Amino acid sequence: MTTPTLSLPSASTPVSPVTELPDDFTALGRIDVHAMPRVLARLVRLAWRYPWRCAAAVLCAVGATLFNLLTPKLLGDAVDQAHRLVGNGSSASSDAAGTALWWIAGFIVAACAARGTLTGLQGYLGENIAQRVGYDLRLAFYEKLQRLDFSFHDRRHSGDLIARGMLDLEGVRGFLESGLLRTLSLALLVVAGTWRLMHVDLLLGALALSFVPFVVWRAGRMGVLLRLSWERLQQLMSELTRGMEENLQGARVVRAFASRAFELAKFDRVSEAALRLSNRRITLRMGSVSTMNFSFYLAMGLVLWFGGRRIAAGQLTVGQLTECLTFMTLLQQPVRQIGMIVNASARAASSGSRFFEVLDTTPAIHDRPGAKPLVLTQGVLRFENVSFTYPRAPGHAGTARAAVLHDIGFELRPGRTLGIVGAPGSGKSTLAQLIARFYDVSAGRITIDGQDVRELTLDSLREAVSLVQQETFLFDTSVHHNAAYAEPAADAGRVVAATTVAQLHDHVAQLPEGYGTRVGERGVALSGGQRQRLSIARGLTADPAIIVLDDATSAVDAATEQHLRTTLHAAVRHKSTVVIAHRLSSLMHADEILVLDQGRIAERGTHDTLLAADGHYAALWKLQNRGERTPAPAPQEGALA
Ligand SMILES: Nc1ncnc2c1ncn2[C@@H]1O[C@H](COP(=O)(O)OP(=O)(O)O)[C@@H](O)[C@H]1O
Ligand SMILES: [Mg+2]
Repeated sequence: MTTPTLSLPSASTPVSPVTELPDDFTALGRIDVHAMPRVLARLVRLAWRYPWRCAAAVLCAVGATLFNLLTPKLLGDAVDQAHRLVGNGSSASSDAAGTALWWIAGFIVAACAARGTLTGLQGYLGENIAQRVGYDLRLAFYEKLQRLDFSFHDRRHSGDLIARGMLDLEGVRGFLESGLLRTLSLALLVVAGTWRLMHVDLLLGALALSFVPFVVWRAGRMGVLLRLSWERLQQLMSELTRGMEENLQGARVVRAFASRAFELAKFDRVSEAALRLSNRRITLRMGSVSTMNFSFYLAMGLVLWFGGRRIAAGQLTVGQLTECLTFMTLLQQPVRQIGMIVNASARAASSGSRFFEVLDTTPAIHDRPGAKPLVLTQGVLRFENVSFTYPRAPGHAGTARAAVLHDIGFELRPGRTLGIVGAPGSGKSTLAQLIARFYDVSAGRITIDGQDVRELTLDSLREAVSLVQQETFLFDTSVHHNAAYAEPAADAGRVVAATTVAQLHDHVAQLPEGYGTRVGERGVALSGGQRQRLSIARGLTADPAIIVLDDATSAVDAATEQHLRTTLHAAVRHKSTVVIAHRLSSLMHADEILVLDQGRIAERGTHDTLLAADGHYAALWKLQNRGERTPAPAPQEGALA
């Protein structure tokens, strides 16, 4: 197991298209400009759920910008006063200039302090709102995941859903945190600053602002390209996550088949593509920053040269030139941030579309308007001409799906057992899932005590029906909590009773911590048969009126299964029971047995009548009992009947 010496099919393995990188970033895709206003407007509305905080944040942003705009003017005045102080001989006016300088210095300190305080407050409020909205959305998303039905989960990879719930949520939150207020501050700064500069000197103002359009263009372009490449990086990352997730879940298979090298090569290919893309992103960022710097200093040089000439000609004061230069420096930083703003908005748009797509999905299975709780009188389950086709995935409208169940009808009364057999794929599990309305029937109807399951509240229906599924799933918690999952309030006595019926009590009692023993991730601390028996105990603890065992003992050894059948029979004697099994000995004592063939009832009857009919069932029976002398063990007293 430790030496993976297989020659691996590396060359013949198709390379995932996601690892092929185009040379031009724009070929990576495009930003969904149409979705942007819709998603961003929705985000603003979400933030507006906290109106006072939003209003305060906006006020702080406006205030901080105004104080910011004051600084160049004050500095310019200071320089003019200083100039007067140096250049003027009369002591009276130098005294006045000195006092004015003190005042201006005081104003500058006050303006900076006010700006700092307001900026801090704005940052705090922005983050606070974003965190609150993030919290709301995370909760809403998780709640939605709980309510989405099987047909949704059939189509979605869980890794993809986790990425939407975590990463995309962060994208949305990041935009609220910084993008929104930053855009507002920048717009104010540019508009007010332009007006002020043009007021000082039209031509000089134009020169001072000349770098802005260029930087806006470069930064905007960088934002778009970084965004596009980030999307691709994200795809690569989710491919890696998925690979890792699958590899961990399938760790035993990977080791057993010595496929380590193959798995590593697969992982490496995607990893390398991600590295190359990251490097290209760095080059792009550095290149853009350099050109932006260059344009800024070029504009500054022009302003100095032109302003100097104006000063020499007596048309401009040194203070006014200082104001111009200070304003340029002030504006430079936020203008560059346009790249970040574009990036954050585009990210919010695409993350938001993905996130809201899940949030806006209406579960196909949900309580209908006016749904009533189930009124259990007896627990009679009826299938009336039920047919079923799995719902199509959206976007696959063309591919018609074949019906999985055709015209199924039966009635199951309390205290009785219905057995279902059939080849794999004949529709047994599908039938079981319809009972608890995990899907809706395509035709016909299913009733419990005469009430159509579609007219009932899901909670009341699922309380009445326990489905022990073919694939066991255990939570990584104690044996007790797994058994009591459907009834968290169940006391120890009830759990012990259920595990005793499920023939698991003796084993659990031997465990070091008894019922407190953790079963480990995916229940690996238990064998397959023990996990199945714990699932049965979970189904029994819920104490339902109808219990459905879908191949629930396939991994249980024959001897234990025989004991289990006996105890189970006693435990479910007042319930309506459906037993789906491969091993005919598990259901031969049922009151009625349905033989499914490609979704149709091919034969039905009791064990004896089916044997006498000499059809599918009889053939299967002979196959399973080949070589045994007495093919039909006499039904035991107390067996599951
Ligand atoms: N979630 C699903 N979506 C689409 N088709 C499915 C799904 N589950 C099962 N099927 C198909 O329905 C048929 C019956 O499956 P199933 O009920 O699991 O059979 P059984 O339990 O008898 O082995 C199979 O052809 C299977 O491929
Ligand atoms: Mg099945």
